[in-house]
Amino acid sequence: MAMRTNRRDENVGRSAASDLASRDLSVASVENAFVEGVYGKIAKGYDFFFGPTLHPGRLTAIQRMGIRPGDRILEVGVGTGINLGLYPKDCTVTGIDFSDAMLEIARERVERKGVLNARLLQMDAADLKFADNSFDIVYAPYLISVVPDPVKVAREMRRVCRPGGRVIILNHFLSPNPFMSRVERWISPATIHIGFKSDLDLPAFLAQAELEPVSIEKVNIPRWWSLVTAIKDEPK
Ligand SMILES: C[S@@+](CC[C@H](N)C(=O)[O-])C[C@H]1O[C@@H](n2cnc3c(N)ncnc32)[C@H](O)[C@@H]1O
Repeated sequence: MAMRTNRRDENVGRSAASDLASRDLSVASVENAFVEGVYGKIAKGYDFFFGPTLHPGRLTAIQRMGIRPGDRILEVGVGTGINLGLYPKDCTVTGIDFSDAMLEIARERVERKGVLNARLLQMDAADLKFADNSFDIVYAPYLISVVPDPVKVAREMRRVCRPGGRVIILNHFLSPNPFMSRVERWISPATIHIGFKSDLDLPAFLAQAELEPVSIEKVNIPRWWSLVTAIKDEPK
């Protein structure tokens, strides 16, 4: 009898895993050109609309990173460089983004604030031009629900992170609350016009990207955003 129950549990577990591995991450889909167009239009207003509201999450992420002197940090989707002044001065930061308009504002900010430990590069997050294992911390704040292929981006993030280093994702994901999730799915085809999908499915994303988080912390007010930390495995 016990044997039968175990087999049944195994089958349920297997079918849940295969559902996570194959289900769509969002009802909405975007292409790079579309995303670039959106950020080209909203770049000038970005800090006003997405600055203060999303800032508690940014501050928590930096506190939890445990940055050590000399750490090499890659910020993926650096945008207007809103995080650049938050990193300790004794680490080095590489910020990448593919939007000219957003990077232009980041460059002005670096100049204005005299940030000396950051470099900015134009690059697609899904095709990072860095060697494997190049960074101690690879961090994507508010990016993963913006890109066309979040799984590809997460795989690239893990590739360029050194073994034992941290892959950190700060983002809004589909709510586990049935009513909220229905609303988020419904509005997602509209929210892409202001730069993100509101219904990215976290469990399916983690399964498909093969990321096993060591922590998931709810951040911001309301606590609708998640700070996901994974550690890249050391080679066996
Ligand atoms: C919501 S903003 C986040 C900006 C910043 N990290 C923050 O904390 O507010 C998303 C950024 O990702 C950039 N982005 C979107 N798709 C990208 C891609 N495929 N490669 C690189 N950057 C991308 C956008 O241009 C934009 O600057």
